[in-house]
Formats: sequence, structure tokens, C-alpha cells
Amino acid sequence: MAVPFVEDWDVVQILGEGAYGEVRLLVNRQSGEAVAVKVIDTSQAKECADSVRKEVCVHKMLNHANIVRFYGQRKEGRTVYLFLEYCSGGELFDQIEPDVGMPEKDAHKFFKQLISAVEYLHGIGITHRDIKPENILLDDKDNLKLTDFGLATMFRYKGHERLLNRLCGTLPYVAPELLSQTEYKAQPADVWACGIVLTAMLAGELPWDKPTESCQEYADWLQKKTYLPPWKKIQPLPLSLLSKFLLADPDSRITIAEIKADRWFISGAKRTLLESGNKFLKPNEAPISRSRSSDDGMQFSTSQPDLAAGGSEAVSQLTCCKEQVSFSQPIKPEHMLLTTQLLCTPGASQSTWQRLVRRMTRFFTTVSADASLTALKDACECLTLGYKLACNKQVTVSTLDRRNNKLIFKVHLLEMDQKVLLDFRLSKGDGLEFKRYFVKIKLKLQDIISPQKFP
Ligand code: ADE
Repeated sequence: MAVPFVEDWDVVQILGEGAYGEVRLLVNRQSGEAVAVKVIDTSQAKECADSVRKEVCVHKMLNHANIVRFYGQRKEGRTVYLFLEYCSGGELFDQIEPDVGMPEKDAHKFFKQLISAVEYLHGIGITHRDIKPENILLDDKDNLKLTDFGLATMFRYKGHERLLNRLCGTLPYVAPELLSQTEYKAQPADVWACGIVLTAMLAGELPWDKPTESCQEYADWLQKKTYLPPWKKIQPLPLSLLSKFLLADPDSRITIAEIKADRWFISGAKRTLLESGNKFLKPNEAPISRSRSSDDGMQFSTSQPDLAAGGSEAVSQLTCCKEQVSFSQPIKPEHMLLTTQLLCTPGASQSTWQRLVRRMTRFFTTVSADASLTALKDACECLTLGYKLACNKQVTVSTLDRRNNKLIFKVHLLEMDQKVLLDFRLSKGDGLEFKRYFVKIKLKLQDIISPQKFP
């Protein structure tokens, strides 16, 4: 079998799919260097080619530790390849447990990094316009990296700010003024989306489908019913900050300068005794015998030294963005093989596996590929999910989620070392809903799930 290669770069995995096309992981045979390549088919519409041109124009000027670096682009016919920094930590979504969220300490660290990226963008007059966990990746050290500048635009040029009028973004993250006004200010709209991301991190759910008063959950928020979920799951300090983010009036909404002066933003989560050295308490058990909270400067009554409450921000060295990548031959799409094909070849090494993006939405089974497929089919039938076998290596599952929105995900079957890996990927819909279904299917398949963890 021909070994798949692109110059000296192997296509090792499909990292993600979207309406635009897909993102693939390339690894250099000699150096082991990894890059992500976003493959965009611009043949569908003229707007598509224009929007890619704009995405490139914006992304290549960005230089910040919390923004995915743009290395260069290449065109082949109607296909455009964007070469990007590879983020092996996967999507922020994978860190969010549906209906629970993530530890407040982690949310605080990610949130500070997100605000740092947005502050940088706004400082140079750029607005992202589609901030959401799907567009937030993590690197190998769990540093946050904002990506996908497909909707980004310039809102300030030579000190002159313009109002925007394009209705774009993703409804649950969109600020209310976009739905109620013809023109809107760029910065408060991005700030609003950051508030929704923080809510998702702290509560594991999105507060509403869209911020209109016809949406009950949004009406409840306007009436300050914070005894309801998701708000009741959030601690008072971050909730107080969120209430300044999610203000309907964009002119009253908190600004980045004000966010940076906020008490929770500066000090972060209160430490539990577990974190400060007491191994006998579970994280959610109330810390006892402490004098005052950590964020007003007091120490816990423990012999352990105080830990930095804010988490560590990325201080990685910035490198200059190259105009063109150093591939000496054009990349031939027909030479590219899918992950399933490549990883099933005998030469797929351990280091190749270790390069793979960390994902929580997958597991090994203890039975054959056929038996795994049958079990998956039964689980889908039991959960009344649409099930379609594309080939004997891939299944498409479709349903309507609890908000009646379309949800489609794919399950890839990878056979390795006499084991079968079921890898679940979202194709369309809400990432948190996707994870809820993943958890339900996993529960149904528990008898055939191997305890072996992915490397
Ligand atoms: N998915 C989309 N873009 C990616 C990137 N740059 N790194 C890892 N996974 C991705």
C-alpha cells in the first residue's frame, strides 16, 4: 500500500469538520513538527472565497500567546489550505462536563486567557464575532488558543470606530442588540459572548437558545431569577461578574478594563482545603477552619504555603508569523489519506498516537469491530437516535436535541492492537448536547467498554 505523504508531512488525523471543510493534522517525518491545516473548498459560493481572503488577512496579522498562530496559506484550484498552529489539547468543550462545567479554578484560568486574547484583538481594532467553546482550543500545556477568524472584521481603523450591521455569530452566544438593532458596537458583543462561554464553563450548559424575551430562559434572567439553573450552580463572585457581562444594554455592559479590575477575575476561585493540602476532603465539601476567603487576602489555617490562586497564564515566546509555509511542493489533496486508513496501517507508531489530539469523547471496546457496531446500533435504537452506517468504519448519528435543534455526530471505528476505538465527533449542533448523548451511549455500552484509557 502506498504510504500517504505530503512532501515530508504525513496526514495523521482529521481534527475537525465544519461547514467550510475540515482541519487535518500534519506531522513532519523528520522533525516531528505538527501543524494543523484547514482545508476550505471555495467552489460553492463567491462569498466563500471572499470570506477566506478576509480570514487570512485578519489572522495573519495576529500575534498573541492565546491566539492560534497562522503560519501561511496555499491555494490549489478552488481549495485553500490554511496552515495553523496545532493545538493538541483539543477543544475547550472537551473540558466541560455537561450540566456540571469544570472546576472553578480551571474556568478562571481559561477565562483570564480568553479575556487576554480578546483585549489584544480589540486593541488592534479587530472583533472576532464568533467566540464560543468550539472556537477555543488548548495546547499541550493547556493554554487557551482562540481560533477561527472567518467572521472577524476590523471595527476601528486609525482611531475611527465604526458600528457593525452584519447579523452573524452563533445564536446562543449572540448579544441581544444584534437581534434587536440594525447596528451594534463590536466590543460589547464580543464581551457578551465571553460571558456565555464563562457560564458554559461554570455550569456545563448554555443559558438560552437566543437572547430574546420570547425565550423563557432569557426572560427569567432579565427578571434576575438566579435561583434557577444555570445560575444557581455558579458561586456568588463569578455570578456577580456574569451579571455585568450579560446586561442587555451594550453601553452598560462591563468593559475589558473593568473586567480586569473585578475581584473574581483578579483572585479567582476560593481554594478548598483539599487544594491547600488536606487530602481527606472532597473538592465540593465545605472547607472548614479557615479564617477568611482567599480572595480577600487571608490565608487558610494550614501549614501549606499559599498557592497562586489565579492559575498560570501562558508566557510562551512569540514567534513571527510567516507569510508562506516552507513546503517546497504543493500539497496534493489526493495524496492525503484519512486517519482511519493511516492509523490502521502497520506502521502507525506509538508516537503517532501520542500526537493525536486529546479527546474525551472516545473509548476502547473489548469486542470485535462488528460486535461494537451492533452494540452501537442497539444503543442508538434504544435512545431513538437516527443511525446510518456509511462504511463499516463510520456511523452517522442524528437526532433533535432537547431544544429541538438538529444534532449530528459521527462515530469512527479504529482498529488497533486487537482493540476497537470508538471515536465520536460532532458534525452539527450544540457541543454540550453532543456530549450529553455521548455519555448516554457510553452508559448503554458499559459492558463492552475497555478500562484501557487512550494514551
Ligand atoms: N481543530 C481545528 N483547528 C485546530 C488546530 N489548530 N489544532 C488542533 N485542532 C484543531
